[in-house]
Amino acid sequence: MENIRVLLVDDEENFRDVMARRLGKRGVIPGKAESGEKCLSVLEKEPADVVVLDVKMPGMDGLEVLRHLREKHPGTEVILLTGHATTSDGVQGIKSGAFDYLTKPVEFEHLLGKIKQAWEKTQWLKEKQRETEFREKMAKQMIVTERLASLGTLATGVAHEINNPLAIIAEAAGWMGLLLKKEELSGMPRKTDFENALKKIESSVERAKRITHQLLDFVQKDNSVLSEVDIKELVEGSLRLLNREILNKDVEIIQKIKHGVGSIRSDSYQLRQVLINLLTNAIHAIGTCGKITISCKSVSLPSGPEIREKREKVSSVEAVELRVQDTGEGVPKENLKKIFDPFFSTKIPGKGTGLGLFVTSGIIDKLGGNIEVESQVGQGAVFCITLPRYHKIEQQPENNSRSGFLEKIGFSVNKFGAR
Ligand SMILES: Nc1ncnc2c1ncn2[C@@H]1O[C@H](COP(=O)(O)OP(=O)(O)OP(=O)(O)O)[C@@H](O)[C@H]1O
Ligand SMILES: [Mg+2]
Repeated sequence: MENIRVLLVDDEENFRDVMARRLGKRGVIPGKAESGEKCLSVLEKEPADVVVLDVKMPGMDGLEVLRHLREKHPGTEVILLTGHATTSDGVQGIKSGAFDYLTKPVEFEHLLGKIKQAWEKTQWLKEKQRETEFREKMAKQMIVTERLASLGTLATGVAHEINNPLAIIAEAAGWMGLLLKKEELSGMPRKTDFENALKKIESSVERAKRITHQLLDFVQKDNSVLSEVDIKELVEGSLRLLNREILNKDVEIIQKIKHGVGSIRSDSYQLRQVLINLLTNAIHAIGTCGKITISCKSVSLPSGPEIREKREKVSSVEAVELRVQDTGEGVPKENLKKIFDPFFSTKIPGKGTGLGLFVTSGIIDKLGGNIEVESQVGQGAVFCITLPRYHKIEQQPENNSRSGFLEKIGFSVNKFGAR
């Protein structure tokens, strides 16, 4: 009976006091209200699991209070107290949604038993609600995951096919470039126009290659090579690769890697790609001047009923949180949901492929983690990644979108395939 919150609503002071005292002794947390109006105002501030409600009260009577309770506090169960002569009120009450009714004078143990039953019903309803929400969340995620999976398959199929003709175009353009440099073509009319056109071909081929490589990287989903990845080295290594990007810009980079964060068991190559994607975006968002903060700390994986259930089988749920925050232009609210979609980009044509965050979220998903973004226009953006630190149980990853989804929501025990 511990921690059941019961509100006793009765205009008889003595009844309220005696019952409250006796219930308190049995581990219940009792509250008191002397009228229907008071009951509603108390519940606004402090919700109760069960309300024991006298029907005959001056002012608002029990049945009227019950109607309000059903509307405003559907999670609270109500036990009505009626007089012997007025049991029809009790029946009416049950029809209007009361859990049950008792006739006065009430026998304490009887009331206690009813309170317990009513409380059990609230718990059962809560559990059902949680299950429904979880199922709905799962169904929604499944739709998104499957949509992305089929889009990914299609796009990567196309990417693969395009790679060969691209290689031929690149080679032919290179050969033409060499020809143009030859002595025999030194006097060729409009030679510069040809050279410029060739440069355009070459840069466009480069861009198309970038797209196909990103997509192909994405589809090679289960090629993770796991090792101990030192977080500090990972961040510093990624920053070194971006030195050229921030050259001639007034960008301050701040590292807040908490002492003792250490290493995680993950794929260093892919995590570096993630960091490079996020940092490149941050640099672009900042423009010519601003600040990027990279911070990392140890955290616990978020727990929900669906995860708790699996936890016994997972030896560790320790995680690290990696945040990349910038003081750039920020993401408009209407774009926040789209930025992880493939080919979504607000950059001028030729500057962005719109695949950076799509690939990034694919990698994080594959590594059993989670990525979230918070941003407001004009106030910068923060991308927050959570990655499990280590799982002692290492199994082969399953290569299908359903398992990917389950892992995404916390069932990450299979994620780290030993290779
Ligand atoms: N740090 C950020 N600040 C503001 N907007 C951002 C940030 N990161 C991403 N975005 C927005 O999300 C969009 C998608 O990002 P994403 O990295 O997927 O593609 P991209 O940067 O446009 O192109 P690329 O494929 O070259 O990375 C960007 O075009 C930009 O509008
Ligand atoms: Mg990008």
